Amino acid sequence: MYRFGSFINGEMLVGGGRTSFEVHNPYNQELIGTIDFATLEDANQAVEVAHRVFHDTMKQLPAHERSRILRKAADLIESDSERFAALLSQEAGKPIRDARGEVGRAVQVLRFASEEAKNIVGELIPLDAAVGGENRIGMSKKYPLGVVLAITPFNFPLNLVLHKLAPAFAAGNTVVLKPAEKTPLSSILLAEIFDKAGLPKGALNIVMGTGVALGEPLVTHPLVKKVTFTGSGPVGFKIKEMAGNKKVTLELGSNSPNIIFADANLDLAATSMVKGGFSFAGQACISVQRIYVQTDVYQSFLDKFIPLVETLKVGNPLDETTDVGPMITQDAANRIEAWVDEAVKQGARVLTGGKREGQSYLPTVLVDVEPAMKVVCQEVFAPLVCVIPFETEEEVIAAANNSDYGLQAGVFTKDIDRAFRLADQLETGGVWINEISTVRYDHIPYGGVKQSGIGKEGVKFAIDDMMETKFIGIRLS
Ligand code: SIN
Repeated sequence: MYRFGSFINGEMLVGGGRTSFEVHNPYNQELIGTIDFATLEDANQAVEVAHRVFHDTMKQLPAHERSRILRKAADLIESDSERFAALLSQEAGKPIRDARGEVGRAVQVLRFASEEAKNIVGELIPLDAAVGGENRIGMSKKYPLGVVLAITPFNFPLNLVLHKLAPAFAAGNTVVLKPAEKTPLSSILLAEIFDKAGLPKGALNIVMGTGVALGEPLVTHPLVKKVTFTGSGPVGFKIKEMAGNKKVTLELGSNSPNIIFADANLDLAATSMVKGGFSFAGQACISVQRIYVQTDVYQSFLDKFIPLVETLKVGNPLDETTDVGPMITQDAANRIEAWVDEAVKQGARVLTGGKREGQSYLPTVLVDVEPAMKVVCQEVFAPLVCVIPFETEEEVIAAANNSDYGLQAGVFTKDIDRAFRLADQLETGGVWINEISTVRYDHIPYGGVKQSGIGKEGVKFAIDDMMETKFIGIRLS
């Protein structure tokens, strides 16, 4: 049983009349920890401490020292990886094998950040390119911003937190983190790791609580210079509105299209779609949702795909053989049940699944869907895919782009010319060829267009978005 609270200036704030919140395992509702929520005063103090530590310490730390801290944090997590994996599995209901994968990725994020910290470069600018610019030298240099506010979701409680913390520290910023209230425990283990790695006290402050209570005061705090948020579209765009002239990065949702042409390797496509549609019960922003299959191979694809989906084992996330765990909340499970029932009433057919068992939803494949159904046009964030036939390249590009979202897409074809045509024309932040939309390596530029977000993550790109570029010029005598 964990008993945690906010972590401000190196101190854990528990008790003192603060409201407590219980963290339960979403699979069996077992109580795994209690968190004391921050008061408004705690939240303000977190920002003030982060501001002071930025000016007094963090912005003075040399790159080699920031790099060393990040590398040490990676080593410490790696040597305690089973503890992290077990906690992720318990607090998020993530199958243990996927939880281990998340810990491995977190270690890599820190190592990428450790390398990038030593490679933050400016440019020499040829000033004589402008008329009258002769006899002058120009350069650009990058500076940290100050306090970065990181607001993170439940689905990757460790790795999506590190996608904000690691670049922020690599750049020399300090952080106020508000983790998802459903999965706050691993962020405290992370604070312990950074402390042991030698991060200055007060460079990482964690504020526990709900977005409803703390979102606005934190986002609008004048000492916060940048807000980086991963979560739902409505909350993200509200944050952008409130943030005024602060820098904002938003990583939001999607209903990712994956397109299978008749010439594709169908076995590869079928096994990949199973992994991409149902891992962590589909609770990833880039989860496969819309699978478009060219009509010539539509039935053969389904004949390969459906039996594979039916082998997936739904159950206890801590069981080594479980493929699909529970949804994060009962409300989330009820919502997807209602959306599938509604689609079926509107004419969709369930080829497998289509049933809720407590807080779990069985891996589900729908066909005969229409573009306006919620299961197609909204983000399902659940173990559900829709398989949709198409005839021509033009038709499928239009169908895939007929979405408010645009995060990542997958295209399966052996025709390299077509692959590049699709890569050019799909309105998404990333396109995979012969790979599913769900794949993300942690150093690639990652971030959507349209309602899927603003800005890019991926360590190097996030560092860039967490710094200010200053011009420095010299007039030679
Ligand atoms: C997300 O759900 O936004 C992140 C997915 C990932 O990092 O794999």
